[in-house]
Amino acid sequence: MLDIQKIRADFPILNEKVNGKPLVYFDNGATSQKPQVVIDAIAKYYQEINANIHRGVHTLSQLATDAYEIARGKVQHHINAKHAHEVLFTSGTTFGINLVANGFASILKPGDEVLVSALEHHSNIVPWQMLCEKTGATLKVIPMDENGELIMSQYDKLLSVKTKIVTVNHISNALGIINPIKYMIDKAHEVGAAILIDGAQAVPHLKPDVQALDCDFYAFSGHKMCGPTGTGILYGKEAWLNKLPPYQGGGEMIKEVTFEKTTYAELPHKFEAGTPNIAGGIVLGTAIDYMNEVGFENIQQQELELLAYATKRLLEIEGLRIYGNSAAKTSVVSFNIEGIHPYDIGTIIDKLGIAVRTGHHCAQPIMNFYEIPGTIRASFSFYNTKEEIDVLVEAVKKAQLMLS
Ligand code: ALA
Repeated sequence: MLDIQKIRADFPILNEKVNGKPLVYFDNGATSQKPQVVIDAIAKYYQEINANIHRGVHTLSQLATDAYEIARGKVQHHINAKHAHEVLFTSGTTFGINLVANGFASILKPGDEVLVSALEHHSNIVPWQMLCEKTGATLKVIPMDENGELIMSQYDKLLSVKTKIVTVNHISNALGIINPIKYMIDKAHEVGAAILIDGAQAVPHLKPDVQALDCDFYAFSGHKMCGPTGTGILYGKEAWLNKLPPYQGGGEMIKEVTFEKTTYAELPHKFEAGTPNIAGGIVLGTAIDYMNEVGFENIQQQELELLAYATKRLLEIEGLRIYGNSAAKTSVVSFNIEGIHPYDIGTIIDKLGIAVRTGHHCAQPIMNFYEIPGTIRASFSFYNTKEEIDVLVEAVKKAQLMLS
């Protein structure tokens, strides 16, 4: 069992007051808070070893390069990638997905198909639409049901030899549903399609094993898992990363440049043009260490308790409906109250110190499916408590009284 008070002491922001009230931070799906060890590591990098990497012969450059590559190794180990060069540093999940979608422009032909799911964030829809516009390929959608689960029988029917890539999130940001990705990966491979997993909402809660999953690509962000913003990882199988063209041209991604022809560097550098977010990458390693020290089993146990408690308590409120009802769910409760706009609830409870996200959550197709403008999304992390959920429930009741 986690000692929650000890864990909370690691996060200085949790002692802050917002609008004169103790902060209740339930917007972890948007970004997590940062432990002191992460905040300190950012300062330490700039105070002690700041230099550009992979370039200088001087000592600081070497120290910074070593620290950056050690962080890559930590990520490799964390997600169980076979090779460190299959781990690309990016600025976040969006960058990773765009990198792959852009690369597939050299592979797809008219008549080919790209499968996305109905549960995707815009960042896992729009890059594929752009790809289809560019190549003449067709975008197909794996439908969802009323509970917010993807319909696997429909997925099976949509797959064919025309399918070149499937792209699906591990966990839905808007509803918290955990998708059956292992099944989806195996099925995609049966028709010879590649598959990308958007792991942005999964990595704060679980440790993905990319070899066991056998996915071709797995993209995620660092800032949702206690790391700095502007950091992310794209895992890609070596064979795929060798096949795809570079996404950006620039320094560090080349072997040799002449005006006639440029040859590209080996992996991972082929995909890492320009000076990266060096401090961010190194400190993502610190964040991963921190989360592993807390322990993912402990994290899951705490978060599932919070999910069950929040679901039960919120359903006590008359007229409240939760979207996303599945046994396979992470610590997200997306809800509405009959007759009240989610934005109004969000605004009132913010005045009471509670941070939630309201709106379409960058997942408008899900909102269109339910024919709603948006939801109120409370997304919990392992450092949240049942007492904070009580504060939320009372605040929502108060808002409901004021607005009805
Ligand atoms: N994708 C993030 C969210 O769901 C920002 O809130």
